[in-house]
Amino acid sequence: MALVTTKEMFAKAVNSDYAIGAFNINNMEIVQAIVDAAVLENSPVILQVGTISMNYLRPAYTVKLVEAAAEDSGIDFAFHLDHGEDFEVCKRCVDMGFTSVMIDGSKHPFEENMAITKQVVEYAHAHGVVVEAELGKLAGVEDSVSVDARAATFTVPEEAAEFVEKTGVDSLAVAIGTSHGAYKFKGEPYLDFQRLSEIHKLIPDTPLVLHGASSVLPEYIDQCNAYGGAIPSATGVPESMIKEAAKYGICKVNVDTDIKLAMTAAVRKQIAEDTSSFDPRKYLGAGRDLIIEMIRHKMQAMLGSSGRR
Ligand code: 13P
Repeated sequence: MALVTTKEMFAKAVNSDYAIGAFNINNMEIVQAIVDAAVLENSPVILQVGTISMNYLRPAYTVKLVEAAAEDSGIDFAFHLDHGEDFEVCKRCVDMGFTSVMIDGSKHPFEENMAITKQVVEYAHAHGVVVEAELGKLAGVEDSVSVDARAATFTVPEEAAEFVEKTGVDSLAVAIGTSHGAYKFKGEPYLDFQRLSEIHKLIPDTPLVLHGASSVLPEYIDQCNAYGGAIPSATGVPESMIKEAAKYGICKVNVDTDIKLAMTAAVRKQIAEDTSSFDPRKYLGAGRDLIIEMIRHKMQAMLGSSGRR
């Protein structure tokens, strides 16, 4: 029942065929749903938060909520900062009790990305906290990060090896074709597995991270649209591709959009069908239930992390 780093869970997953879900939190029901699913599946899990979500939740509530989830559930899990923009944000999160931080220097040129990552690694390691960095640029929109598809660039394997060696970073997010948000592919979904396997071959013991990994489940899109939503044809990463990626060093699979979609689908349905009710516990509870179901499904069928805690 403690917040732990990802060190041990990644060491087990890095040369295996399963990965660990890193789920973004935006409110209390989401925190509870993620941890409940991990308990029910006996699965390792990572709770993560970006800075905009943390400001919405408010930093003090964010930390206390996550600590309460560890205490209440009786399980260990990692608490990670998603897309830390600069050294100051990462330092603040280390000081607040996060066990893992991401420094996202991917918008900077290679050398600058290395320098800022190294600075965060030095501070975090001195405080027992692990660090994720990103090399290459993912397209899509996610809170504070917005990258046009034309500006997206895939990770270069040789650069990944040099980056990890020179920065001492604990895990590396790679760009191989995924993107943030609900609109990931214009045509057929495509991930560059050749590139991923080259990266994994060069740095076999470095846990790799896949951002933008939501499947954008059609049933949630349909449910949102059936109850008043207007979400046109969205597309995500097929589950079979995530399963495949886990064989090439992908240890951490980031999911935010699917949680938001499940919550919205459940809330829309509950409010539309129970028109006389005005009890937030009913619709937020329905959202929590659907998220538990969705995450359990991912742990069993896509991540393969059930029973691995
Ligand atoms: P999705 O938008 O695919 O859920 O990705 C979330 C993510 O990568 C968080 O960093």
